[in-house]
Amino acid sequence: MADIHKHEPAEGGGERSELEIFRRQWDLYRKIIDNDYFHGADVYPVLNRYLKEEIQGPFRFLDLACGDASGIVGTLKGTQITHYHGVDLSLPALELAERQLQVLPCATKLEHADFTDAVKGQAHAPDVAWFGLSLHHIATPGKRDLMCDIRKLIAAEGAFVIYEPTLRDNEDLLAYLDRFDTLARSTWTACTPEELDMALEHVRSCDLPETGSDWIRLGREAGFSKGEELLRAPTDLFRMFAYRV
Ligand SMILES: C[S@@+](CC[C@H](N)C(=O)[O-])C[C@H]1O[C@@H](n2cnc3c(N)ncnc32)[C@H](O)[C@@H]1O
Repeated sequence: MADIHKHEPAEGGGERSELEIFRRQWDLYRKIIDNDYFHGADVYPVLNRYLKEEIQGPFRFLDLACGDASGIVGTLKGTQITHYHGVDLSLPALELAERQLQVLPCATKLEHADFTDAVKGQAHAPDVAWFGLSLHHIATPGKRDLMCDIRKLIAAEGAFVIYEPTLRDNEDLLAYLDRFDTLARSTWTACTPEELDMALEHVRSCDLPETGSDWIRLGREAGFSKGEELLRAPTDLFRMFAYRV
């Protein structure tokens, strides 16, 4: 079973409010995932194929902002994974991840940390680092710095793969957010109006997507030798990119 490397909360009572916020937000996140509004059914088979076809031999896997690891676990089964390392700021999510990871036939580690800190000074270089729907919360210079740290961390012959909100070329953030809003309100039928408002408020206040060209450019500026688009979600709101060391 994975050992969770915990960081103590700064003040008393922090854990309880964290748990309350987590429950409210996570129930909605689960509803969105379970109804495949973020297209995990398309994403995970492509990642599984990439790991089998493009990564030579056994590999160590770093899952940045792993959440409850529910989607990634099935993707990693049947690959040559030798070590899984998940990082997340949410302890409740890591506790759920701990249970999910029991099916993996390899050593696992869960770390309660900010991913920007976790990528610095790791004792073992991962062969593959993965970001699912979390890198887009950071502004462009911060994304570049983080990708630079990830590039330095990954082993030779390794890869960095992301699945993130992506603007169409020539689309600005406001147009993207309006497109997201219109699409979600017409197709996320499993959500109540209150849940839709909560989800879309989060997207409007937190999401900082890049254009496809800029995601590729950021990889180049971070020192990766090659970046390619692996998948475009049917809604054209999200894309997957792979970068090689
Ligand atoms: C949208 S969920 C994605 C979870 C998972 N990667 C997936 O694809 O299902 C975002 C996750 O990022 C975590 N998170 C947000 N900011 C973080 C940070 N700075 N460091 C570590 N985890 C972070 C949250 O706790 C949450 O579990």
